Amino acid sequence: MTATVVTGIGELVTNAPDGADLLGTIHDAALVIEGSVVVWTGPAAEAPPADEQVDAGGRAVLPGFVDSHSHLVFAGDRSAEFAARMAGESYAAGGIRTSVEATRAASDEELTSRVGRLVQEMHRQGTTTIEIKSGYGLTVHDEARSLAVARQFTEETTFLGAHVVPAGITVEEYVALVTGPMLEACAPHARWVDAFCERGAFDADQAREVLEAGTAAGLRGRLHANQLGPGPGVRLAAELGLVAVDHCTYLTDADVAALTDTGTIATLLPGVEFSTRQPYPDARRLLDAGVRVALATDCNPGSCFTSSVPLCIALAVREMGMTPAEAVYAATATAAAALDRDDVGILAAGRRADLVLLDAPSHVHLAYRPGVPLVAGTWIGGRPV
Ligand code: NIG
Ligand code: FE
Repeated sequence: MTATVVTGIGELVTNAPDGADLLGTIHDAALVIEGSVVVWTGPAAEAPPADEQVDAGGRAVLPGFVDSHSHLVFAGDRSAEFAARMAGESYAAGGIRTSVEATRAASDEELTSRVGRLVQEMHRQGTTTIEIKSGYGLTVHDEARSLAVARQFTEETTFLGAHVVPAGITVEEYVALVTGPMLEACAPHARWVDAFCERGAFDADQAREVLEAGTAAGLRGRLHANQLGPGPGVRLAAELGLVAVDHCTYLTDADVAALTDTGTIATLLPGVEFSTRQPYPDARRLLDAGVRVALATDCNPGSCFTSSVPLCIALAVREMGMTPAEAVYAATATAAAALDRDDVGILAAGRRADLVLLDAPSHVHLAYRPGVPLVAGTWIGGRPV
C-alpha cells in the first residue's frame, strides 16, 4: 500500500487523549497515511520514510469536522420566512410544514441532487462526517425515500418522522403511524431515531414512545430538546441514556445536572440562534458543570440554513463562552462521540484519515477570522475531495 507523508504541518491538531493539551497539538508535525487510515503522527523530524510527500507549508491540519446534526433532505425555499423573521416575526415549529409540501412534490432525483450539492458544500468547508435526518416527508413513503436518499451520502442517517404533526391527522394517530408502519419502512435505511420534543411538536410522552419504538426496532436514540423554551426533553434524553441531546438552549440547573450525571452529550447548534435571533445556549455553564459539549450546524431550510462548521465554531467562541480549542474539540472529537464513532474526530494511528488543511497557521484562526474561507483542502479516508 502506498504511504503518503504530510509534512511541514505548522500545527497538527490530533485530539489524542494522551496529548499535552486538550487538542493534542503537535507543532512542526508530520502525519503518515496508508490507504484510508492514519498510521503515524509526530514531530516532522522523526517522520518515517514514505512513498509520497505532501507539504503543508507551515499551515494547520485538523481532524475533519463531524457535523452530527443536519436536515439536508428537503425541497423548496423558505428565504421569505427568514426575511419576515428579520423584520420582526418569531420562529415557530409550524414552518416545517412548508418544506414538507415541497419535499413531497419533489422527485427522488431532485432530492438526491439537492443533498449532493449540500454535501459538497460541507466538504468544501472541512466537514468529513455528516449525519442526515429525514423529517420533511412525514408519510410512510416520503420518510422512507428521504432516508434512502440520505443513505447514498452517509451511514449516519436518522429517522425523524416525529418532526411535526402533518396536516389532516391527529397527534395520537400520527404517533401510531410513526411508531408502526413508518418505522418499519424507515428502519432499514436508518441508524438513529430522533424526535422534536418541543411545544408545538411532540411532548415528552410522545417523544418517549417514538424513541422506545425506534430502539426496539434496532435504532439508537437522539433527541431535539429545549430549543424554543424550557421543557422535559433534556431530562428525558438523560433518563433514556441517549448518546446525545441536541439544541439545549433553555436549561434549568436540574437539566444540567442530569447531563453531568449521565454523560449524555449536549450538542449545541449556534447557527440556529444566529438565524432566529434567539439567545445562545450557555456552553460555558455546561462545560464548567462537566457536561460534554458538541457543536454542529443543524443545516435545515427553516431555523438555520448554514452548512458551515467554521461559522459555528466562530459563534461558539464569540457568543457562547468557549475557547477556540474547546470549540474545535467540540466540532471534531465530541461531535464524533455524539455519533458514537471512534474512527473519526481524532488523528492518530489506526483512525480514519479524514483531515482538513487550513490556510492558516493554527486552529485559532477559525474563530479569529470569522467568515473567511480558510479551508484549503479536505481529505476523506485518505483521499482529497
Ligand atoms: O432543528 N427543531 C426542529 N427542526 C429543525 C428546524 C426545522 C425547520 O424549521 O424546518 C431544527 O431547528
Ligand atoms: Fe435539527
